[in-house]
Amino acid sequence: MGGIPHDHYEPKSKATKAINSRLPIIGLLYDTLMIPTPKNLNWMWIWGIVLTFCLAMQIVTGVVLVMHYTPHVDLAFASIEHIMRDVNGGHMIRYFHMNGASLFFIAVYAHMFRGLYYGSYKAPREITWIIGMLIYLLMMATGFLGYVLPWGQMSFHGTAVITGLFGAIPFIGEALQTWLLGAGAVGQPALNRFFSLHYLLPFLIAGLVIVHIWAFHTTGNNNPTGVEVRRGSKAEAAKDTVPFWPYFVVKDLFALGLIMTVFMAIVGFMPNYLGHPDNYIEANALVTPAHIVPEWYYLPFYAILRAFTSEVWVVQIASFVTGGIIDAKFFGVLAMFGAIAVMALAPWLDTSSVRSGRYRPMFKWWFGILVADFIFLMWLGARPAEEPYASFSLIGATYWFAYFLVILPLLGVLEKPSTPPATIEDDFNAKHGAAGAADAAHPAE
Ligand code: HEM
Repeated sequence: MGGIPHDHYEPKSKATKAINSRLPIIGLLYDTLMIPTPKNLNWMWIWGIVLTFCLAMQIVTGVVLVMHYTPHVDLAFASIEHIMRDVNGGHMIRYFHMNGASLFFIAVYAHMFRGLYYGSYKAPREITWIIGMLIYLLMMATGFLGYVLPWGQMSFHGTAVITGLFGAIPFIGEALQTWLLGAGAVGQPALNRFFSLHYLLPFLIAGLVIVHIWAFHTTGNNNPTGVEVRRGSKAEAAKDTVPFWPYFVVKDLFALGLIMTVFMAIVGFMPNYLGHPDNYIEANALVTPAHIVPEWYYLPFYAILRAFTSEVWVVQIASFVTGGIIDAKFFGVLAMFGAIAVMALAPWLDTSSVRSGRYRPMFKWWFGILVADFIFLMWLGARPAEEPYASFSLIGATYWFAYFLVILPLLGVLEKPSTPPATIEDDFNAKHGAAGAADAAHPAE
């Protein structure tokens, strides 16, 4: 499949001709900005811009924070207090960065579930999806590394728990954990390397975002119908699309403005709402908090991690078959990473001939349960590891795996989808009528 046919940049003046023949950067920017975009995109397509903004905001605020932060076990906690109290605007910059991480994850979950509902992961967008999954993993790693830096109680004991998970890997676990921490326990070497990596990873994410955008600019965007843009000719493609600039830029910026209004209210009035009060107590190896709770965005996967105790029969079978190599702890680790891996495999597990969930009557229900399951698991992840939460987590985790490994493949065979519109233009006209079509064709009139 080739790209969507459209006009390319033609330098007109002598200067632009000279630049373009040496470095076609203006042409590249033009093609990126004027990319034909399906004209029926709904509000769930705003998240990509919100994510790009979040990444930029995290990098800018992070770079300023680093100017005043000290990665030393005796000084880190105090340097954060110094930022909050003494540095001009430091209070605001820290809260922007702290809550910015949460906004980033809200946006990424909305973006991912959008993809899962509209089948955006399906051919030919598998590479866009896989790059997205890599970005998501790096975001999780970056968030974790950053949370260690203030060197509060949750930072310290959370690090012990999470690096302990690597310790559960048979044979190499202990060595791996020591290698990650740079020592036998959480301390100065860990803080130093986590700081270094926390600064590095966002730039790797930025590189992957460029590849992500390159990938979906090659295939073209998906859209709520899941029907592809017609590519026979420029004129035909133009009936299904409008250039990204100016319409979608303005639409996305409007959405970003609304989201930032809510964000500012949270930063201004309840900046610690999503945080844990224990992280305002300096790290103390000798005092373990009653409940070690990760940040909200890890909770669904944390619940899956804890769901598989030694009482669960699958764990017992795995342990028996492997002669005890796979114990409950390692099984939990496998389940947690497995829960993300099955999502990455969605392009190959979904067998439906129809892409968008809009035309899949049975899929809609199962997908709705998946979203509810995710929220339920998030709630469970913050509960203590006891009954009935342990059993609920097991049910939630089972549904998560069943959705990807059983339901998604079977639905493609069992379900009778309704017929999507023949073209994006038809979908657009059905909603907006001929007047809408005329407006889109002649936006300036
Ligand atoms: C820093 C993180 C990310 C950024 C900045 C980003 C950016 C974007 C942008 C700008 C788009 C264009 C459409 C839209 O705005 O929705 C897009 C599309 C897409 N993204 Fe992401 N993304 C990120 C993470 C992810 C993740 C974690 C996934 C899933 C695992 C993902 C999967 C997709 C897919 C499948 C599409 C194609 C859908 C379409 O074009 O209609 N992205 N992304």
